Order: sequence, then C-alpha cells, then structure tokens
Amino acid sequence: MVAVCDHDGRLLRHVAIIMDGNGRWASQRSLPREEGHRAGAESVRRILQAVIELSIPYLTIFAFSSENWRRPGREVGHLMGLMRYHLSNERDELVGRGIRVGFIGDRSGLDSDVLGLMSDMERATADGTALTVTVALNYGARDEIVRAARALAMDCAAGDLEPSTLDEEGFARHLDTSALPDPDLIIRTGGEQRLSNFLAWQGAYAELVFLDVPWPEFSRDDLEAAVSEFHRRDRRYGAVTTS
Ligand code: FPP
Repeated sequence: MVAVCDHDGRLLRHVAIIMDGNGRWASQRSLPREEGHRAGAESVRRILQAVIELSIPYLTIFAFSSENWRRPGREVGHLMGLMRYHLSNERDELVGRGIRVGFIGDRSGLDSDVLGLMSDMERATADGTALTVTVALNYGARDEIVRAARALAMDCAAGDLEPSTLDEEGFARHLDTSALPDPDLIIRTGGEQRLSNFLAWQGAYAELVFLDVPWPEFSRDDLEAAVSEFHRRDRRYGAVTTS
C-alpha cells in the first residue's frame, strides 16, 4: 500500500478528480458515448472503495460541468438519467459504508426531481465518517466565484460587510466548498492537461497529475500511482526548501 503522508508528514486529505475520456473510451469500442458514461459511473463505485482503503478522507469528482449543457440533448439527458439512477439506488449502500455525500455547483439550473434526490442523499448520508464525497454537478469554477462575489456584494449593499475587511478566508467561506479542505491533489484522466474550470480557487496549490488512461479504465493502481507522484513532489507554498 502507498503511504498517505508526504516526507514532511503532511497528510493527503483531499483528492479531486476530473473524470475525462468516457466518450473516447466508448468510441474506441464502437459504442455510443452514453456507454462510456455508464462505465464511468461504475468506475466511480470502484474508486470510492480504493480511496477509503488509502485513508483519504475527502474525494471530489467532476460529474457535470456548467459547460456540459452544450452537449447534444440526448447525451445531457443520459447523464442526468445516470445521476437520477445512482442517487436513487445507491443511497442505502452509501449510508452502510459510512460515505457522506455532498454537492457543489449551481443548483438553480437543475431539475426539481434531481434536486430532491440530492437533498435526500445529503440528509441520509450526513453522519458518514469513512469518506466525504463531493459531487460537482452543474459546476464551473468561474460561476462559483461570481456567485460568491455576488453574495458578498449583496452583504456589502445591505451594510452587513465592510468591503475593506474582506480577506481570502472570508471569500472562501462564500464558495460552495466552504466546508471542505482545499484539494491537495487533482487528477485528470483521459490525456488532456488542463483544469477545465474545475476548483480554480481551491486548487491554487494542488499538485496536478494528468493520466492518459480513460476514466472507465481508471484503477486502484492508477490512483496509487497518482498518490505516489504526489508524495514525490516538493510542496513549498511559495517558500524555499531549507534542506
Ligand atoms: C468526461 O468524459 C466525463 C463527463 C462529462 C461526465 C462524467 C460523469 C460520469 C463518469 C458519471 C458520474 C456518475 C455519477 C453517478 C457520479 P467525456 O465525455 O468528455 O469524454 P471524451 O473527452 O472522451 O469525449
């Protein structure tokens, strides 16, 4: 098993994953893109167990971006259908495994039945202590930052906030991730090397690991390799290494 502490004894607390490559995985097998997403959802199930066994307490996954609405209606409908299916059918198993589920993203753009299933899931799993999984759904980092700025501007206009007192911590408290530690490691599968509007604020100091493997094939070994790469990197947060 790989170590979860780096050479300074710091814990790897939060892994975030951009689950890319579903469509290409399907196309390479002459399957419709939707089959790639179905296989991708199975991959999520497998990886939850691996993350728990590595004693990583926080996992965030990019399930649907605010830009994904631009995909063909059939594919969007399928992705939302997958969400409905897993939110409806996996709640009790997640409760049994002690997995707490939460969501980030703009809820105002989602259908009311999906919102209901999300709230049910959050309520039912609230006492889970084995792992906190955050699903980014209708999420875009710029959108999240604008929503936070809007809320802060309204606080200022209402006289509840003095603009000169606003600092990074105060700003971060208005982000969707206010209850989460910043990600230490962001993994992107599927071969592209960019963040695609994911956790732009929170990932400022995250280590980035890009893997060629498509998400449906992402395995426990791939996760362990990314974690090992994280521990090899020297995290200085703008300071210098003293040794
Ligand atoms: C990117 O692959 C993946 C997505 C847009 C969706 C990811 C969603 C899942 C894996 C399902 C998650 C389900 C639950 C229940 C959390 P892509 O389609 O962009 O792949 P491509 O780059 O090869 O076209």
